[in-house]
Amino acid sequence: MTADRIGVLTAGGDCPGLNAVIRAVTVGGLAAGREVVGIKNGWDGLMQNDTVDLDRDAVRGILGRGGTILGTSRRDPYVHGAGAASVRETLDAHEIGALIVIGGDGTLRTATRLGQEGIHIVGVPKTIDNDIHGTDVTFGFHTAVQIATEAIDRLTTTAESHNRIMILEVMGRTAGWIAATAGMAGGADMILVPEVPYDLDEVAAALRGRHQLGRQYSTVVVAEGIEPPSGTISPDREVDLFGFERLGGVSYVIAPLLEEKTGYEARVTVLGYIQRGGSPTAYDRVLGTRLGLGAVEMACAGARDVMVALSGGQISPVPIDEACREPRLLDRSVYDAAAAFFAS
Ligand code: F6P
Repeated sequence: MTADRIGVLTAGGDCPGLNAVIRAVTVGGLAAGREVVGIKNGWDGLMQNDTVDLDRDAVRGILGRGGTILGTSRRDPYVHGAGAASVRETLDAHEIGALIVIGGDGTLRTATRLGQEGIHIVGVPKTIDNDIHGTDVTFGFHTAVQIATEAIDRLTTTAESHNRIMILEVMGRTAGWIAATAGMAGGADMILVPEVPYDLDEVAAALRGRHQLGRQYSTVVVAEGIEPPSGTISPDREVDLFGFERLGGVSYVIAPLLEEKTGYEARVTVLGYIQRGGSPTAYDRVLGTRLGLGAVEMACAGARDVMVALSGGQISPVPIDEACREPRLLDRSVYDAAAAFFAS
């Protein structure tokens, strides 16, 4: 029997919309007359031959569900297995001819390497961070921004009730897309992102100025990847299985310094995994569906070493090594639009 079954896996951090992609890959593959095999827990499922057949019933009711029905992990065949050999063995055992890999930059870097070793790969870019080149936006980002915006709205009422500075720390790794976009949507009085250097004395002066205008409270959004204030050090950080430094916690360094420099109480909320969980917005459900259908269509047509992307509103293939470039950092025009309202 020819190896014409389609494999699909999700690897790296979870994010809202993953199940929309899995559902679309399955429905699109079945419509093309292919069988679809789900690989469990990211690359682990290939290293351990842990799979599940996906039919239409297997993907019913998952469009609006967070997470991934396949499970995910950050283990990597080149680090935790025998590289392409441990992947190829399972693909051959299940007669999988093309593998659809849904993941962030770390996952797609591994997929690119496997493609160079002859495995038929189609990538789907995934991350709430929105920091992958080659696509206008990544699914998951819109939902994370919505969650963070709602958090800013809530923190604003606490800030004005207590005349406090409320600091919200958001994810995004080394990019400030979530911080700047949600900060703008939430009307934050200050936003700190890795792409724009800051001086905490200047931040304090801006917030004092706002309070002296009679608005005795402020909201500050901090991206987890910013440098700690000059003269301080980042909190101790672990490294994850992909080798990425686990970020988070810089706001606990900033808050006491801001209190000292402004004389106002400051409190910290680190939004963390709330941004990654739960039901995707309609936008991410639709984007995930379009990307999944595009990926399986490309795989069935024989396209390989490509990543499905949203480009100018259209779904199109781009070279998968676009995902291997350095992170796509925040567009300065987005930050500047938010900054027009700082401490006003
Ligand atoms: O890349 C997505 C992301 O949520 C980052 O924003 C965050 O820094 C990281 O994953 C957290 O990784 P983990 O889920 O391994 O803790």
